Amino acid sequence: MKSNRRDFLKKSGMAGIGLVGGVLGSSKEDKNKEPFELKRRQRFNMHGYSAPALDVVRVGLTGIGNRGSGTVRRLASLEGVEIKAINDVEEDRVKAAIDGISATQSPDGYYRDENDWKRMCERDDIDLIAIQTPWHLHVEQAVYAMEHGKHVYCELPAANTIEECWQLVETSENTRQHFVQMSASCHGGISAVVLNMVRHGVFGEVIHGEGSYIHDLMNDYNFTKHMYHNLWRLNENIGRHGNLYPQHGLVPVMQMMDINYGDQMDYMVSTSTNDFMMAERAKELAAEDEFWEPYVGRDYRGNLNTSIVRTRKGKTMMLQHDVTTPRPAIRFDLISGTKGAFHARPSRIGFSYNEGWIPQEEYDALVEEYTPEINKRFNELMTRAEAPGRTQRSYERVNAMDWRLIDSLRNGLPVDIDVYDSAASSAITPLSEWSVANRSNSVSVPDFTNGAWETNERGMDVQLEWGGGTTRIL
Ligand SMILES: NC(=O)c1ccc[n+]([C@@H]2O[C@H](COP(=O)([O-])OP(=O)(O)OC[C@H]3O[C@@H](n4cnc5c(N)ncnc54)[C@H](O)[C@@H]3O)[C@@H](O)[C@H]2O)c1
Repeated sequence: MKSNRRDFLKKSGMAGIGLVGGVLGSSKEDKNKEPFELKRRQRFNMHGYSAPALDVVRVGLTGIGNRGSGTVRRLASLEGVEIKAINDVEEDRVKAAIDGISATQSPDGYYRDENDWKRMCERDDIDLIAIQTPWHLHVEQAVYAMEHGKHVYCELPAANTIEECWQLVETSENTRQHFVQMSASCHGGISAVVLNMVRHGVFGEVIHGEGSYIHDLMNDYNFTKHMYHNLWRLNENIGRHGNLYPQHGLVPVMQMMDINYGDQMDYMVSTSTNDFMMAERAKELAAEDEFWEPYVGRDYRGNLNTSIVRTRKGKTMMLQHDVTTPRPAIRFDLISGTKGAFHARPSRIGFSYNEGWIPQEEYDALVEEYTPEINKRFNELMTRAEAPGRTQRSYERVNAMDWRLIDSLRNGLPVDIDVYDSAASSAITPLSEWSVANRSNSVSVPDFTNGAWETNERGMDVQLEWGGGTTRIL
């Protein structure tokens, strides 16, 4: 597999920090060096931290594309949210977003230039910045926002390099501002039910989990001119070989394994196939349209990446990433324990090799019994809501994670997915790139909690035991 070494070092955060010899050097001593920084002093433990309660959460949003145009509507559908500012480099997107919520909100628009989001972050009447820009901007924007006294709600991935992960952790600890990665697959729905089952021992001791991002983004997304701003997502697929988007499948499994509060990811290995599709597609398109010529002959991401993580307590997770082949979608996929297993798509539960998966009625009864308070409360509020965007596209429909974040901020509760969860799940990408580039050798996973995982209380309050659940959906 070809590898653009300079680009890899830059993306993986190793360039300029004096560790390059440890990665690619050949002496015995070099081979024993860790390629990434595994620990840093914890300045303040943000896990379980409650920020002062905010009756009204005043929000500024940056990046109003496919996702962000929905985020504006989702957040505007929650009680106690005031949308103060909307930013994008595209003026028409800002104006359309303002128009879309003008019945209830009157935000200011920011679209002067590519740095106008800074002006928005500098305002002193905003509490939360929501980030939906292309990946390379996330950390720069999040750090700036936290340094200006704002909590951050950031689309995934939170960060792209290990150094960026540390920057998020340090800034959140220094400023005591929450950094929350939008890992919406954990809240509501079946993941929260299975998490509750795990916590009640339905599957015994969990031994193994699997989560993937298998989503065909080939022709209708990445190889389409106007889907993404400046084709940023296709560009991310050039020169990067690894799991570029682990969070949707991984974060639910992390929670089921108590990662960051009871166990910790220890080390991982990763391998990728070659690219069998993207280079061909670029050639086909360029034959008909010269716009695509710069995309011919590029070093495209190997189509399927498989990574295996081992935890300190000797459990494993398998993570896959494939946004190219036409396979049906998979995200959180499997949890397997000493007494049984849950398998998604189709959802099924089994407790016995001989008897196989339990009948549908038994499955439904178990789901009903273990549906946690967070789902019940959210579903009840959705039923009562007048216009939560239920008939609109999924990005515009309020999800349980948006609701619970705003609810937690308004009630002064800890957030369900904190900066350590965000950093650990995002670290998988640069670690997988390193492993793929090094013949699938193992690489240690940094401990962003600096040992606090051993004593941290369990996070992700699916039973609403810490309170809250009071925010209405409009
Ligand atoms: N959680 C999910 O299910 C989900 C779904 C889709 C996308 N996402 C994430 O959302 C993010 C955005 O994806 P998208 O599909 O909306 O991409 P997009 O290209 O449609 O939107 C990005 C927006 O950012 C704007 N932008 C670019 N540079 C900017 C700058 N300097 N200042 C202000 N705005 C700038 C662009 O004009 C564009 O409107 C990504 O992180 C993606 O991974 C998450």
